[in-house]
Amino acid sequence: MIVAIANQKGGVGKTTTAINLAAALSLRGTPTLLVDLDPQANSTMSYLDMTTVERSVYEAIAERDVSFEDVILPSSQQPHLWVAPSRIALAKLEAKLVGEIDAHYRLKDRLQPMAARFPTIVIDCPPTLGLLTVNALVAATHLLIPIQSSYFALEGTDDLLETIEKVRMRPNPALKILGVVITMHDKRTALARDIRAQIQKVFGGKVFKTVITKSVRLEESPAYKESIFTFAPDSTGATEYYSLCEEVIDRA
Ligand SMILES: Nc1ncnc2c1ncn2[C@@H]1O[C@H](COP(=O)(O)OP(=O)(O)O)[C@@H](O)[C@H]1O
Ligand SMILES: [Mg+2]
Repeated sequence: MIVAIANQKGGVGKTTTAINLAAALSLRGTPTLLVDLDPQANSTMSYLDMTTVERSVYEAIAERDVSFEDVILPSSQQPHLWVAPSRIALAKLEAKLVGEIDAHYRLKDRLQPMAARFPTIVIDCPPTLGLLTVNALVAATHLLIPIQSSYFALEGTDDLLETIEKVRMRPNPALKILGVVITMHDKRTALARDIRAQIQKVFGGKVFKTVITKSVRLEESPAYKESIFTFAPDSTGATEYYSLCEEVIDRA
């Protein structure tokens, strides 16, 4: 299973979902690879000290003599979790790939050899619908869309769905939409309840039963290079991401 976590909006919980879903999957004993495809490298920083990152996903995708095997690093605290790190250099990748005949297939081709070692791969996407995200959608078997519980939640989802349909028409007809997860939800407000109902109206059964509520613990854990499961195992964030992981496995 290769799960892409995508939404072209920034700050909706992609990285928080990617790092904690990958951790939850790895805690079940399955070797899991977290691929950071965002030049801002937030997923990478959540588990690695940047000074230890010498080569990144950029080199693994752009350079012929560098493979994913050469760039991946074990996460600091989670035994079965590895990270394919990002660096700001990744921002140059789109320019580098433009005009290459296999531009949309690079990540898929380069990740292929990792599938034997990592039965689950989670890809954290950048906040754009550019070539990096398209590479993730082409490489993925499954897609998970985090939507922030906010007044503008559904703004821009048309563009995302259009891109997904384009990818499903040609390069990746097998891409399965696992579902939409509502993030940063505040159960106490009427607005949040309205927003949840609206998201449910648009996405129906695709909305995960698990809703991720606002939690300071989820914001804090990356600073300590830990997932929510070791940082605050009894927090609501840990319970919710664990239950999201169960739903993902059921739906996959
Ligand atoms: N459930 C949550 N509760 C509180 N803060 C959250 C939650 N999910 C994400 N955040 C915070 O919101 C900000 C944006 O989240 P992030 O996962 O980085 O989004 P994205 O990757 O889509 O840009 C980060 O500071 C993150 O710590
Ligand atoms: Mg992010």
